[in-house]
Amino acid sequence: MLIAIPAETDPAECRVAATPETVKKFAGLGAEVKVQAGAGLKSGIPDQDYALAGATIGPGALATVKDADIVLRVRRPGAADMAGAKPGAAVVAIMDPYGHIDALSSLAAAGVCAFAMELMPRITRAQTMDVLSSQANIAGYRAVIDAAAEYGRVIPMMMTAAGMIPPAKIFIMGVGVAGLQAIATARKLGAIVTATDVRPATKEQVVSLGAKFVAVEDEEFQQAETAAGYAKEMSAGYKEKQAALTASHIAAQDIVVATALIPGRPAPVLVTAAMVESMRPGAVIVDLAVERGGNCELTKPGETVVSKNGVKIVGHLNVAGRLPATASALYAKNLLAFVETLIDSKTKSLAIKWDDELVKATLLTKEGGLVHRNFQAGA
Ligand code: NAI
Repeated sequence: MLIAIPAETDPAECRVAATPETVKKFAGLGAEVKVQAGAGLKSGIPDQDYALAGATIGPGALATVKDADIVLRVRRPGAADMAGAKPGAAVVAIMDPYGHIDALSSLAAAGVCAFAMELMPRITRAQTMDVLSSQANIAGYRAVIDAAAEYGRVIPMMMTAAGMIPPAKIFIMGVGVAGLQAIATARKLGAIVTATDVRPATKEQVVSLGAKFVAVEDEEFQQAETAAGYAKEMSAGYKEKQAALTASHIAAQDIVVATALIPGRPAPVLVTAAMVESMRPGAVIVDLAVERGGNCELTKPGETVVSKNGVKIVGHLNVAGRLPATASALYAKNLLAFVETLIDSKTKSLAIKWDDELVKATLLTKEGGLVHRNFQAGA
């Protein structure tokens, strides 16, 4: 059984799908592992470290993927990148499937079984495979570090001979995995932290991290969490009340880190242009929701823009990828945990259990067709 780790084809992607640690574990499962030369360099992993862990080094993408049973990637590969893999090979990546039916169809036509890691159910058994959490955690941390770097002042209170410097006020909008890590990081830096969310369960989490909870806590708020633990799209009435509260709160903030998302919908716009205008020059907004449209009206994907009144709005893409070594280490472990379930430990071969709920939730393509329920006609 050959597991292939080709290099990422997007030059902006610095993460890699395996580390020497996971290569060793795959070898222990009886797999041969082939890593494309240079695949780990941007994550600080030289070829030699993979080789020491037991991998062979493939000179190029096609030579690496040739005869592979399993291909591990960070991002969805093109069909041409899979040429030479065994028919029915498992290709596991963050597939970004929505809105990319053509790319999925060509992967199907390439005869591979494509698995989308981001569709992994958030159940106890699959916690170790949860890429949304592993990467959001890193992104939440990095967002605060990016904000601190853009902010022209210090974050903690400082008592100096030349005078007292007050602590920065940091407001975290959206308290999921990224938001919780952002709160913890901002607290560690010594900021005065407030946070908001529409899910009532977050209030206790915010307070337990030493931050203050700021939200419209009406009847709708009490019902805002879905059975799956996610936020609902809020009513126009709630949004109005939320906007009024946000407007008065944001005007006094130095840094805003916005992370609010609603599954399957564009990100809610929580910070309007008028709110940005109310902030003081030098304030910073980091918008982690930028890939889904952004939480701030003025965010530009991949750019840091400065508003008319001197507020910096940071719209980095792939924020987890800005800490590639840590993000890769966690992502590679997520992959290892999932791939272990696709392997028969006795025969040491690929043995996909088609009835397994993890397979059903993540499998996009099989035997030339698009098989995921979300991509069937009428879905
Ligand atoms: P997410 O990335 O979908 O959203 C981020 C946050 O934005 C959420 O907390 C959401 O409530 C909030 N939000 C949405 N609309 C908003 C609005 N209009 N105003 C303010 N905030 C808004 O969330 P993530 O990080 O994926 O976590 C969602 C839930 O899943 C959480 O309850 C988390 O604890 C749970 N979870 C469960 C796991 C498990 O059981 N294995 C693993 C990871 C997360």
